[in-house]
Amino acid sequence: MKIPYIPEDSPFNQDQKAWLAGFLAGLQTRLLNTDSGSGRGKPPIYILYGSQTGNAEGLAATAASTAKQHGLEPVVKALDEVELEELGTMRRVLIVTSTYGEGEMPDNAQLFWEALSSEHAERLEEMSFGVLAIGDTGYDGFCEAGKNLDTRLEQLGAKRLLARVDCDVDFEEAANTWIETALPLFAEVEGGPDEVAASPAAADTAAPAASAYNRKNPYKSVLAVNRRLSGEGSGKEIRHYEFDLGDSGIHYEAGDALNVVPENNPELVNLLIERLGIKADAAVAKHDQPIAELLTRGFEISTPSRELIAAVEQRAGNADLSRLVQSGDKAALENWLWGKDTLDLLQLNPSLSLSADEFVSLLKPLQHRAYSISSSSLANPDRIHLTVASVRYVSAGRQRGGVCSTYLADRVQEGEQAGIFLTTNKSFRVPADKHAPVIMVGPGTGIAPFRAFLQERQASQAPGKNWLFFGDQTRASDFIYEDELTVMMKDGVLNRFDLAFSRDQAEKIYVQTRMRENGKELYAWLQDGGHFYVCGDASRMAKDVDQALHDVVAEHGGLDAEGATAYVNQLKREKRYLRDVY
Ligand SMILES: Cc1cc2nc3c(=O)[nH]c(=O)nc-3n(C[C@H](O)[C@H](O)[C@H](O)COP(=O)(O)OP(=O)(O)OC[C@H]3O[C@@H](n4cnc5c(N)ncnc54)[C@H](O)[C@@H]3O)c2cc1C
Ligand SMILES: Cc1cc2nc3c(=O)[nH]c(=O)nc-3n(C[C@H](O)[C@H](O)[C@H](O)COP(=O)(O)O)c2cc1C
Repeated sequence: MKIPYIPEDSPFNQDQKAWLAGFLAGLQTRLLNTDSGSGRGKPPIYILYGSQTGNAEGLAATAASTAKQHGLEPVVKALDEVELEELGTMRRVLIVTSTYGEGEMPDNAQLFWEALSSEHAERLEEMSFGVLAIGDTGYDGFCEAGKNLDTRLEQLGAKRLLARVDCDVDFEEAANTWIETALPLFAEVEGGPDEVAASPAAADTAAPAASAYNRKNPYKSVLAVNRRLSGEGSGKEIRHYEFDLGDSGIHYEAGDALNVVPENNPELVNLLIERLGIKADAAVAKHDQPIAELLTRGFEISTPSRELIAAVEQRAGNADLSRLVQSGDKAALENWLWGKDTLDLLQLNPSLSLSADEFVSLLKPLQHRAYSISSSSLANPDRIHLTVASVRYVSAGRQRGGVCSTYLADRVQEGEQAGIFLTTNKSFRVPADKHAPVIMVGPGTGIAPFRAFLQERQASQAPGKNWLFFGDQTRASDFIYEDELTVMMKDGVLNRFDLAFSRDQAEKIYVQTRMRENGKELYAWLQDGGHFYVCGDASRMAKDVDQALHDVVAEHGGLDAEGATAYVNQLKREKRYLRDVY
């Protein structure tokens, strides 16, 4: 929906204007809903999600289907699509959210959280709610976003219908059980389902067609292409993969992620078996499978789990580890653990003895890894392309490799199969309006979804302009996909292409440097309705690009810092500033 116009000379500052615009948009939505004639005055169930890569969004769709089975009319929205004013009118609210960054809200819940956590947030006495949180126990702030929302809603007087559940990476079973428990409780609120109004927005709730393939049942896809993209002189190894979709029926869209189910490095498996002093075919009681199989396909043996670290600390008598654990200095412990795998921990004390059962009980299940898809199904309906950096390093004299990236690079040959499944990400798409300009910032492997976007825009003959910022270390070795991007430039698919190779000159040049240099035009593209996308490294690049965006908007929009923040927040609300960062 278009944001209502607020005159330039109105007596509001930028943030107030942005808030007012949002408020008016919300009001407009409510008036539209009331005007539809379908409402009989009873509230629907709002299923609100915060999701970065689609998992929570998928659960929201599942909850919507379940809600319908209970006679409820669901309205599904991303948290950032909800204005606080509107929240105040909601009676039944089911929230499902992931956690991102370091215990933070996913991108599409950040503005909502800012507003909800403000001291000016209104009371929500009329609301009944439940929160389903998904996360990863490997992170310090496990399910922090869900916990914060749950606590804050209670503080504001809303009534918690059922206890929050915090789900780990294997979230499906726990999440579905929670949804099955929650919806009958919501159906009891406000006199039951028969009094609920049909809402026009409920049309949005169709669950995406569930693929037959998932984490537990991955599709065994043939790896058709495994090709090195980085030049020989590169300090990096980025590879291009193509997975054949065969008769899987998997349909994907540019912006989705493909999950790969890896197997561990057999050399590390053998070293561990040797260290445990057992035979490869020794059975592990609880699992009824040989240890070699469990260590190859069942459990994470590279990155040590918290449980293993705690057990080794207590039993290995290693002064460094004990000092770090007991100091509570997480950063120092992380630093010390950097590059160490489970074998390194066992080697801290050669006389430390663990049985196979004990060792396995201290490991986390081996997880799939997600990769942004680098092809468009319009151009490649039968294959999914990935662009993956192989993680390789030497530590304590032993060559190490990231589990999944080296599984793909070294252990799956072309023509062999690997387990894959799709995660749809409806929040990261090319603009529905084909005329809208697109600005993409994707250095390194961050280029992946933008290669897909460009293919998509070309195949769908979208007339909107496209601008790509790409970079890496050196042009000679790291300009991946140079040939096809050059052709896209010639063909007019790519209207602007700015490159930043950090090591090709004395001073460091990054994509954010290029954004600043071209700030005037960048701002003009945004003013022209441009959509701004970022993909790649979350720890530094995405933060620097965000700062550069604020600076460009301030300088060329004639705004102060507060005004620039309001402008960027408005881009987020309009889903014109989207990120796929990891
Ligand atoms: C939504 C999403 C999209 C993604 N898209 C892409 C993509 O398009 N392309 C891509 O390449 N990746 C992408 N990733 C990252 C990808 O999922 C994996 O995290 C990455 O491939 C590493 O996985 P791995 O199993 O190879 O390494 P892991 O076994 O998980 O090991 C990584 C760990 O190794 C350690 N480590 C790494 N380097 C060193 C070093 N030099 N010294 C010591 N220790 C080190 C660190 O502890 C690090 O956490 C994406 C991630 C997400 C969440
Ligand atoms: C870069 C990154 C940071 C993450 N940070 C956290 C975190 O701090 N706490 C947590 O519990 N989970 C964290 N997770 C795990 C996600 O919450 C989890 O993968 C979730 O299933 C993602 O759901 P979504 O696809 O709906 O965003 C993180 C995941 C990634 C890739």
